[in-house]
This record gives sequence, structure tokens and C-alpha cells, in this order.
Amino acid sequence: MPSTDRAEQSVPLARRTQGLSRSPIRRMFDLAQSMDGADLVHFEIGEPDFDTPAHIIDAATDALHDGATHYTSNAGLPPLRTAIAADLQADFDPTDEIVVTAGAMEALALTMLTVVDPGDEVLVPTPAWPNYTNQCEMVGATLRGVEMDAASGFDLDPAAIIEAMGPDTAAVIITNPSNPTGRVFDPAAVEAVVEAAAARDIYVIADEVYRDLTYDAPYREIAAETAHEAHVITVCSCSKTYAMTGWRVGWLAAAPAVIERAIMFHEGLVACAPAVSQHAALAALTGDRAPVEEMLAAFGRRREYVIDRIASLPMVTSPRPEGAFYAYLDFSDLQMDAETVATRLLEEHGVVTAPGTGFGRVAGEHVRISFATNREQIGRGFDRIEAFDTTFWFGFIDDVVIRITDSADQTVVDVRSKSRVGLSDVGKNAARIEAFLDALDGRLND
Ligand SMILES: Cc1ncc(COP(=O)(O)O)c(C=O)c1O
Repeated sequence: MPSTDRAEQSVPLARRTQGLSRSPIRRMFDLAQSMDGADLVHFEIGEPDFDTPAHIIDAATDALHDGATHYTSNAGLPPLRTAIAADLQADFDPTDEIVVTAGAMEALALTMLTVVDPGDEVLVPTPAWPNYTNQCEMVGATLRGVEMDAASGFDLDPAAIIEAMGPDTAAVIITNPSNPTGRVFDPAAVEAVVEAAAARDIYVIADEVYRDLTYDAPYREIAAETAHEAHVITVCSCSKTYAMTGWRVGWLAAAPAVIERAIMFHEGLVACAPAVSQHAALAALTGDRAPVEEMLAAFGRRREYVIDRIASLPMVTSPRPEGAFYAYLDFSDLQMDAETVATRLLEEHGVVTAPGTGFGRVAGEHVRISFATNREQIGRGFDRIEAFDTTFWFGFIDDVVIRITDSADQTVVDVRSKSRVGLSDVGKNAARIEAFLDALDGRLND
């Protein structure tokens, strides 16, 4: 065998590779992989545990036997584009306003290549899906995270986004429903952003891959709700709704001028989305809805269960998941950063989560869990999170004041824990509380 110097010698790479970063979610995934044979509950994976419904697989198999083994047109099979146009709430012309892509990821990449220049900025309300960062790096642009307020449950804050718009802003990405928070944004807040973007000729990229997964009300597409359609680029896919992540089929819907150029990049990247996957997508969009409705209902039941389990955790809160299949757990009461929480959950309790550090700076004490796994696993995972959480239950009593006064407003007893107390201090406080109870007892016996 000839010897190779591939590992030792480093031949220069393109400068654009230097800004690429690895998602902390992948890091957790790799750490979990290295724990060979460990009994783990996987909450980090953002894909449905269901297999693709049988009628979709059958349609794809039939298509293969009928010769769907060739390139298709760059834009995608005409009947599929027609089906996508029918599925979209906004009006898009299937002939020149839709391109079928290799998943939403390619649709996003095409969008970046088409509307974002090197040196431009792309605004992203955070916490946000981490992959946007490298998508920006790919075109020499900078992602600028605009932190949404944790206290509001990470609601969309139009004023903050509008304030961040500057001369270099080329686009704003709105992920709705949100990954990682599960929030579905108020349509008026979204429209305020679109309106401000349109006034400055900035694009709004609507990443709506979770649009069919809303639990409280049907989703309204951003492009369908706005008066500024020319500035909205819609990205969607079959991945989440139809449990089709591995088929790699999605779409981009936008003004003809955007699509015309995006198709040229698409040709250079993949030529067309895989023919067999396009046939599968056609069956998904036009076929039997019953299996899809069953999956969506299962997500709805899991979501209810997850909300209940979170409510019973003493030290954890979370914005209510209104869409997608994520809950964004806030561990800030433990005074521990997300990496530590995620690492301890994995190493001490065998639960794999995605630390919020991967979703933007504000997310430093949050951990994302995906409930796209089965109910039994969700139950086991929450039992373990509860075990971790209750370890700290007595550990932090924050400035508690218990004051009993008599009828003349004179203090009878005042038990005060002035500072945050650690576990080792519980004994001391227990003694104080005991003294208080004794005093109270004495008072009651008076
Ligand atoms: C917000 C968001 N956008 C896009 C994607 C990519 O979807 P697809 O599988 O269609 O490429 C994901 C996948 O997790 C996602 O969470």
C-alpha cells in the first residue's frame, strides 16, 4: 500500500472555511455516541420517530419501477410544483415561483446565494436554529443574532429587530414555529417586521418547516398574511410534516426574479432534487391525509404530557410549546450554564439534550428537548430530569423572609435567609426554620 501524507500535510483551504463552526448539538451527539452501551434517552434529535407513511413509500417504489431514475427538470416535476402551490396558503405560480430542493436546507442555501452578498448581515431573532450561522458563512455574510427576551418566553420583538436593521442588512430569517422554543409568533408582530424590511428593501426569509405542527390554532403563513409578498421568501419541506427527513425534499417559493437565479445555483449544486423523492413528495401532498393526521395527533398528545411534566418540575420552567416538537427548558434557577446542565444530564442521568448555547447567546441557561420521540422514552427522560432537578430543590432559597406580627404590627418572629444558600447550608436554615416553628408554636400556645 502506498503511504499517504494526507493526515500530516495541511494544504491551504478557502478562507471562507475559517468562519465555520460546529453546532453544540452535534457535540452532545458525539459525546453520547462515545458512551458505548450506556442506557440513554435521546432528546436531542429534531426529527419524527415515525417512519414515512406506507402509501408514500409505495408511490416512490412504483415510481422507481416506472423509470423515475433520471434527472427531472431543475425546478422539479411540474405536478409536484402544482401540488406545492396548492398546499401553500399564499398564491404562488407553480411555473416560475417555486423550485423543488433537496430539503429546506438547500432551499435556505439557495436563498443565501441569491439574495445575500459577501459583507452583508443577516438578522436572526435568537434563540434560533444553529445551522443558519454556517449558511451565512458560506456566502461571506455575518449572522447577527437579535436576542429575544427570555422573560417574554422568547416572543418575537419587532422593535428590537427593526432597530437592528442597518445599511448592510440583506435579510431577516424568521423561523415560525420556532426551533428551539416552540413559539408561534403573533402575526401582527411578524407583519411589523415584514413591513419594516420591505420599506428598506430587505428580504424576510420565512423558514416554515414546522408550519403543520401547531397545537393551539392553525398556522398562517407569513407570505399569505403580508401586504409585501415580493419581500418574503418561503422555505418549507416534507421533512417534519410527513416524517420524510431522509428523502431530502423541500421547496423555495418566491418572486420570479429570485427563483430564476436560485435555479441557476440549484443546477450547480444538485441539478434537481432526487427524482424518487419528488414522487414521494407528490404522494405526500396529494395522498391520504389520515396517517399524517395520526402522527400530528400523536405529537399533540406528547406535547400535553411534556407540558404537564415540566409544570411538576420544581426548578425548571419553559415557554409553552405552541408548535414544532421542542420544549426549551430554563434551568437558570440552578445557576448553571447550559453546557454544564446538558453535560451533567448526560453523564449523571443518561439524558441527551441540546444545550441552548448552540441557539444564541441569550440561551445560556436553556436546554432544548425534542419530544419527537415515543411517549415511553419521553416518560423515562422526564423521570431522569426530575431526579436531576430535585437534587437542587432544597439547595437554593432566595432571600426568603418569614415574618409573623401581632395585632399591633410588632414582629413576633422573623426568619430570614438573606442570601442564596447552597446545599451545605440547608442544615443551618433547617435550624432557623425549626426555631421559627418553635416560636410559632409558643405563640399559638399563648
Ligand atoms: C428550523 C429548521 N429549518 C430547516 C430545517 C431543515 O429541514 P430539511 O430536513 O427539510 O432540510 C430544520 C431541520 O431540523 C429546522 O429545524
